[in-house]
Amino acid sequence: MIVQDTALRNEWIVACRSVDVQDRPLQVTVMGERVVLFRNEEGIHAFKDLCIHRGAALSLGCVRDGKLVCPYHGWEYEASGACVKIPQLPSHQAIPGKARAIPFGCTERYGFVWVNLNSNAPDFFSLPEFDAPGYRNVIWGPQTVNAKPPRVVENFLDVGHLAVVHVGYLGVETHMAIGDYHVHRDENGIRTDEIAVFQPDPDGTGQAKHVYYTYEILRPLTVKFTKRDRETNNEMSILLTVMPLDENQSVAYGVLSFNYETNMTDEEINSFQDMIFAQDKPIVENQKPEDLPLDLQVELSLKCDRASIAYRQYLNELGVKLGTA
Ligand code: FES
Ligand SMILES: [Fe+2]
Repeated sequence: MIVQDTALRNEWIVACRSVDVQDRPLQVTVMGERVVLFRNEEGIHAFKDLCIHRGAALSLGCVRDGKLVCPYHGWEYEASGACVKIPQLPSHQAIPGKARAIPFGCTERYGFVWVNLNSNAPDFFSLPEFDAPGYRNVIWGPQTVNAKPPRVVENFLDVGHLAVVHVGYLGVETHMAIGDYHVHRDENGIRTDEIAVFQPDPDGTGQAKHVYYTYEILRPLTVKFTKRDRETNNEMSILLTVMPLDENQSVAYGVLSFNYETNMTDEEINSFQDMIFAQDKPIVENQKPEDLPLDLQVELSLKCDRASIAYRQYLNELGVKLGTA
């Protein structure tokens, strides 16, 4: 079932990692829509994964001379979506104008392929760490979650759970209280003040200390936090972006950026992040209601939930329907 959500169809939605699209076309399901991604010399392209001739999945075909070739009767589509070759047609017959694939917006950024299902995409959010000198970026994901995207995103913005769900890793039992903070909104987006969190080993040196979290809401399904050590100025940030697979399932991806030596390989960083995510997963998959209540009276919020409240307000303003109530 295609997810009918105009606000989200207008967004850039992560589809897969850049490395996932090589020489062969790839099928991904984005918001219930089967999409084929393929690469040619000009870059990466996305079509509805459907041949207009007999409904074959174009992703089962191949890329030849920069064109996507249908696996069934060999029709060839160029990047604009126009069909430029129909092998069954005698050479003097013109290709019907209706012979087209349906193109979607598609671009590569920050190690991922992003699609826009409405060709009405907003400007891309900026991720300064990705190109900044002195930063290392690690691509994380995919991780599939049986929950709707807003619940997954809100979990990421939730500072109060760190010393509970991730006790021993991202928080300690003796420091569970969260100091007050505010959320600021300007032309650069929505961000919190720095929030102190006491962690057992925030940077791998084995020393417990306070670090300071800043949460940012960049887009409805893309958020970020930066965790800073005030003594060393070590900074690590995680960008989380969620793809709605269909009405009920989410696929999470991330970019982890560090400005210091972690002494960990990309694989080790990914397995640590997988382990942390696995702690959140059963919580998020069992939250009720599945739809995030945008009426702020429905659940009981604390002051430390200001980031979540700002997120709910933002979804409400944008008119996001998927996973909200
Ligand atoms: S179904 Fe694609 S060419 Fe026939
Ligand atoms: Fe968590």
